[in-house]
Amino acid sequence: MNGTTTMNALIDDIVTNLGDIAGLDTLWPRGAVHRGGPHYRLRGTVGPVSIGMDECRVFGTLIQKTRPARCFIIGNAFGLSSVFISKMMEQCGGEAVVTLDNQSEGDGERNAAIAQSLTERLDCRLLSNRKGESPRDIASVAGEDPYDLILIDGLHRHPQVTHDFIGVREIATDDAVFCWHDYWMLGIPQSVAEAQRCGFHCVKINCSCEIVLGTRSETVYDRIEALYENTEPPRKRLRPTAFLKACHAMATGTLNTWRARTRHAR
Ligand SMILES: C[S@@+](CC[C@H](N)C(=O)[O-])C[C@H]1O[C@@H](n2cnc3c(N)ncnc32)[C@H](O)[C@@H]1O
Repeated sequence: MNGTTTMNALIDDIVTNLGDIAGLDTLWPRGAVHRGGPHYRLRGTVGPVSIGMDECRVFGTLIQKTRPARCFIIGNAFGLSSVFISKMMEQCGGEAVVTLDNQSEGDGERNAAIAQSLTERLDCRLLSNRKGESPRDIASVAGEDPYDLILIDGLHRHPQVTHDFIGVREIATDDAVFCWHDYWMLGIPQSVAEAQRCGFHCVKINCSCEIVLGTRSETVYDRIEALYENTEPPRKRLRPTAFLKACHAMATGTLNTWRARTRHAR
């Protein structure tokens, strides 16, 4: 099996098992901000929403090509991204994946139970799911050994995402790859800008919800930047409010109403 076939088979397995455990609803079948998707949420719930399946493949490619040993994830929800990452790392010589979630979104306790059930069903031997608050509990949950892959996907607000970044810097190796999911949302651009001020080299991948990858190592940056086609530097949006309103309209199925209203306003 080639890399993409392996990843697609794993995605199918995860989606089937989550469907069995709890039931899933599909969201953004063709992608949110860019072409991609679909995303999932638990049946009948508003959120949390998983990363897109195209975004799983972004992480899969990163793991296959850079073979990280230890991954730390802020924001686990019902376990879709962490199970995908831990099974990919298992195939690529990884050692550990640790998640931190404060169970604040939706029915957090139920989400955590579903995440744990999925972890056990797929026999994720690298994965350890922990309850706690970022950034307060990062150090205690992380333990002694540093991490070379970090995913920030917790609360999407400013300055929380910047605090998350400052917190995980303390547990990262010098050449770790940091991943920010949802660059289009509030708080993430500010966190990425802080990383750039601290000397991180960052690239934005235009997948469904926009992932930014960043690292302090120029060598690692050159390697990861070359892995993807649809990329650009992370830039401040010129009209962030209008952009967010358009995205909200897209998410709630009211894009045509929004378009008509903005045409009148012009
Ligand atoms: C967007 S969801 C994560 C989705 C997940 N990465 C996936 O794709 O499967 C965000 C999660 O972050 C958690 N969260 C929010 N604020 C947090 C905080 N301060 N510390 C830890 N977790 C937090 C929420 O409980 C929620 O489960």
